[in-house]
Amino acid sequence: MYNHYVERTAVTFEVAPVRPGDRIAWFREHSSGGRYRLVVATDGRGRVLGWATSSPFRPRAAYQTTVEASVYCRPDCVGRGVGSRLYASLFASVQKEDIERVVAGITLPNPPSVRLHRRFGFRRVGTFHRVGRKLGRYWDVAWFERPLYVEIEGRANTARPPQVPAA
Ligand SMILES: CC(C)(COP(=O)(O)OP(=O)(O)OC[C@H]1O[C@@H](n2cnc3c(N)ncnc32)[C@H](O)[C@@H]1OP(=O)(O)O)[C@@H](O)C(=O)NCCC(=O)NCCS
Repeated sequence: MYNHYVERTAVTFEVAPVRPGDRIAWFREHSSGGRYRLVVATDGRGRVLGWATSSPFRPRAAYQTTVEASVYCRPDCVGRGVGSRLYASLFASVQKEDIERVVAGITLPNPPSVRLHRRFGFRRVGTFHRVGRKLGRYWDVAWFERPLYVEIEGRANTARPPQVPAA
């Protein structure tokens, strides 16, 4: 599923097809607990329809309260609400974690992804131009952010975060 996007698109900046073994470290970096989650959507027969993750943003310790969100649906399952359900589940799963900010980078153009992120309360903060070269051209990446706690259409998308501890 992911390799479809690796090989044919610039939505991810990985350029070489990923083998299952390559993903073990990524898989271990995420779990069903803590800040860094992996949520998977399946159909009734266990076929994977998509996944979403919250991942470390940058390695320095003070960045720990920021996570980077990603979401991928099977190419034949886009536009059917799977991405929205994955994000709803992901943000619900981390609502009690010590996370202040969620960020996401979107290679342009990608209208479905921009719309999904806006729908989930992300605000565009800027664009890095020509920061990736893939498929014979350079690509711009727009960055989006949201606090973990947001209200969408008058309803809380996550619980209020715990008070920030004194330094
Ligand atoms: C981006 C992606 C995760 C969105 O998930 P999805 O299941 O297709 O999206 P949903 O059906 O939940 O719809 C989410 C929003 O996008 C909109 N949308 C869906 N397909 C669209 C399209 N082709 N063009 C414009 N908007 C679109 C929907 O209308 C909806 O917005 P709304 O609620 O304001 O009406 C999915 O399309 C995907 O996996 N794309 C390829 C991989 C990718 O680009 N991942 C993101 C990397 S940053």
